[in-house]
Amino acid sequence: MRYFIETWGCQMNDHDSEKLAGTLETMGYAPTEEPSEADIYLLNTCTIREKAEEKVFSRLGVLRQVKQQRNGDMVIGVTGCVAQQEGGQIFSRAPYVDLVLGTQALKQLPEMIENVASHKGHQVNVGQDPENHLFPPHNISRRSRIKGLITIMEGCDNYCTYCIVPFTRGRERSRPWEDIVAEAQRLADNGTKEIELLGQNVNSYYSTISFAELLRKLNEIEALEVVRYVSPHPKDFDRDVIETLRDCPRIATNIHLPAQSGNSRILKRMGREHTREHYLEKVAMIREVLGNNCSLTSDFIVGFPGELEKEFNDTVTLLQDVGYDRIFSFMYSPRPGTGAIKHGDPVPQEEKSRRLQILQQTQNELQKERMTGRIGRDYQVLVDTLKPEDRFPVAGRTRDNILVHLEAKGAPERYFGRNLAVKITGAGLHTLRGQIIED
Ligand code: 5AD
Ligand code: SF4
Repeated sequence: MRYFIETWGCQMNDHDSEKLAGTLETMGYAPTEEPSEADIYLLNTCTIREKAEEKVFSRLGVLRQVKQQRNGDMVIGVTGCVAQQEGGQIFSRAPYVDLVLGTQALKQLPEMIENVASHKGHQVNVGQDPENHLFPPHNISRRSRIKGLITIMEGCDNYCTYCIVPFTRGRERSRPWEDIVAEAQRLADNGTKEIELLGQNVNSYYSTISFAELLRKLNEIEALEVVRYVSPHPKDFDRDVIETLRDCPRIATNIHLPAQSGNSRILKRMGREHTREHYLEKVAMIREVLGNNCSLTSDFIVGFPGELEKEFNDTVTLLQDVGYDRIFSFMYSPRPGTGAIKHGDPVPQEEKSRRLQILQQTQNELQKERMTGRIGRDYQVLVDTLKPEDRFPVAGRTRDNILVHLEAKGAPERYFGRNLAVKITGAGLHTLRGQIIED
């Protein structure tokens, strides 16, 4: 019996897929690379932006044909954020789907599969298991040997007015720190070099200790090289967290500080807790504590309802004032059930697209300069990719999360999983090139 899981969206979805895979493996299923061999096919979906439902139904149309080729002998399941959002409505448009499993009931999968097998009809569970975030770590089937994903919290209580996440992922819940440290230690004992802490608001983490204290505990695990975390919220980057990055050599120093806009009126309409001024104060504090030893990245939305040209220009100048190493920028897309839906979508598509281009062009120019500024500097690079055919056959990321391609002497395999001292010799827009200093 075989399974195939197709995953869209963020790292939380990647990790949910690892949890679903582990669950299927404990039921006796083995993974397959070939969709037509799958007895169970799960589509793990995302609904953060644009026509997510349409994309799901068009993909399901293809899976329907695969199912027909197998004479109906394939269980099709929709999981993830579209499943959570649409629930049983999915069956009315795609009756060949067998099960719909939401984001907060992962442990229900075996029961649902058994019910499908015993001809009990369509199965749907979009309920909220208050212990979903306490998923048993031994039931996780991990895709990478050297990089381990660890859930530390789930959910979001912020309700930014553009965002669907509070509706698809529920209220904030944090895992006890002892469980997290034990999972990290076990991974490290088994050869994992890098862990990535996951949460919809990862730094809103709170159990009996704070996020900064959790980082300090993980920094003690000697077999680990790097501890990363996604996705953070600017409101929870306090001085304690920033000083922890300065003092703890294993904690990654890329600071993702999603601004969304550079204009305080738009930020208020977005329901963000910061103004432009607060945000710039935070950036100044980061620069004061960490200087050049960190990278800064951000997310932006252009064309939020009511965004005037001059307000958009404030976003452009924010890029210039901050100096980001990378940005992720998107055109506003109205999401069902969110606070901003009442404003409609008044900024025309062409105008959104024009603003996006201006923003990206501005960033590209600034980014080129910043990347070039790294030439000649030394970094530690944790090798996680090998491409033996390439001129630069070894690749990995710096502690501040910049991708570096490396020349290698001899067989590239011997570098895999090592944290190498590297001198930067060249820079592109998104990646650096370098030479290994100590072999
Ligand atoms: N429209 C466009 N972009 C969005 N994002 C979240 N919701 C929307 C939306 N409705 C962007 C934000 C967020 C990133 C993950 O996706 O920039 O930080
Ligand atoms: Fe997509 Fe957000 Fe759901 Fe992740 S949490 S899968 S980004 S909608």
